Amino acid sequence: MVTVGSQLTVKCHEVDILGQGVCRFEGLVIFVKGMLAEEVAQIEIIQTKKRFLVAKIIKVLSASPQRVSQGFQLGAMDLSHLSIEGQLNWQTQVTKNAFEKEKFNFKLDNIIYDENNVFYRQKAVFHCLYDGVLSLKLYDETSKNLADIDGYNLADQIILNIVKNINAANLSQNLTQIIFRVSHYHSHQPAVLVTLVVESDKTNLEVIVNFLKQDPNIVGIMKNIKKNPRFILNGQSTILSGVNELKYSFADLDIIINDTSFLQVNQSIALKAYQKINHFIQSDTIIDAYSGVGVIGLMAASSAKQVTLIEDSKINVSFMQKNVVKNNLNNITVVNDKTENILHQLTADALIVDPPRSGLYASLLEVINQKRFNKIAYLSCDLMTLIRDLKVLSQTYQIESVTPIRMFPGTSSIETLVLLKIK
Ligand SMILES: C[S@@+](CC[C@H](N)C(=O)[O-])C[C@H]1O[C@@H](n2cnc3c(N)ncnc32)[C@H](O)[C@@H]1O
Repeated sequence: MVTVGSQLTVKCHEVDILGQGVCRFEGLVIFVKGMLAEEVAQIEIIQTKKRFLVAKIIKVLSASPQRVSQGFQLGAMDLSHLSIEGQLNWQTQVTKNAFEKEKFNFKLDNIIYDENNVFYRQKAVFHCLYDGVLSLKLYDETSKNLADIDGYNLADQIILNIVKNINAANLSQNLTQIIFRVSHYHSHQPAVLVTLVVESDKTNLEVIVNFLKQDPNIVGIMKNIKKNPRFILNGQSTILSGVNELKYSFADLDIIINDTSFLQVNQSIALKAYQKINHFIQSDTIIDAYSGVGVIGLMAASSAKQVTLIEDSKINVSFMQKNVVKNNLNNITVVNDKTENILHQLTADALIVDPPRSGLYASLLEVINQKRFNKIAYLSCDLMTLIRDLKVLSQTYQIESVTPIRMFPGTSSIETLVLLKIK
């Protein structure tokens, strides 16, 4: 009988949607993080569930030609052991399988990617460990323990340099997390916002603030008090030094954000996806729902008569309004509400949705079906909720194309763009 601690030799059949190897042993399914398709490995069972087992690799006995490192040490890089070519094939295959399983009629377009497979994140969160001195860490492969970040190469190099300097400085400073956001606006000097997350307003941050102030790239240092452990950042931050504003450029647009507003972390890939949406969505009237600080809708505004942006977060809306003014756009309506509360009152030829992982509410899907938009662009960061929602939308809309987007190389995170037309 297979129990926790049992060691087995197994073959991996595929890497699943979560990036874990799927093996079979005597009719049992075993999920093994870090194992690649066709590999044979000695594994140890670490968890038994009713319908499956979870194991860790002890030794890879026959390695995939697509393996580029022994394994991954950090949860934030859970597919970094797979070659870039392997990652592109994996995401394409996983997407194709998910759509085929539901028998959707669809055309799979080429995956969107670029050559920036490392140092692409313009925003990164580090966890603080304090044992007399401050060190910045990330969660290990089990996502339970904090680990050294030596091999971490997904964040922008400007951010990684600041982190390296903090770790080398032996600062006597206790705090919870530090969040960095960098912008390389045109050819200006890089500009960085640093947000210090603390449990209590009483935490004295003098040591870290004085240290960070010496870095000429840092334009703003903020404090954010952790109120809800589920979220990294809560509400508004307080400025401790400099300004809480960064400028980015997306095609012809200037976009301003602050430390708590939403912006995709991989700007060059996001731009490619937005351009594909823009090319397809061309209509007189467009609704961009879940619009963040407005990037997609503002891009679409140049060829539309009227664009309505719907966004729930007040902070995002305040920057969206600044972005409308900054780009001299006079065909934009900004709505600060939840999409599910307001969409039934609005009309447009085309709809863009880019929701959080949870996807679209069932009641909202019904409204979208009733509205019979000519076109819909659905950008999703969760393949499972996307498929769930498309099962409802496909009653009224046909899928024109499905495009996998390799937004987060080195990780198992999947971004997908689906373009739909009214039947
Ligand atoms: C994945 S982001 C997309 C942002 C934007 N489209 C972009 O590409 O930068 C999702 C956005 O939806 C907003 N949001 C979350 N729930 C919402 C809701 N129920 N109605 C409207 N906006 C919502 C979030 O604040 C966030 O800005």
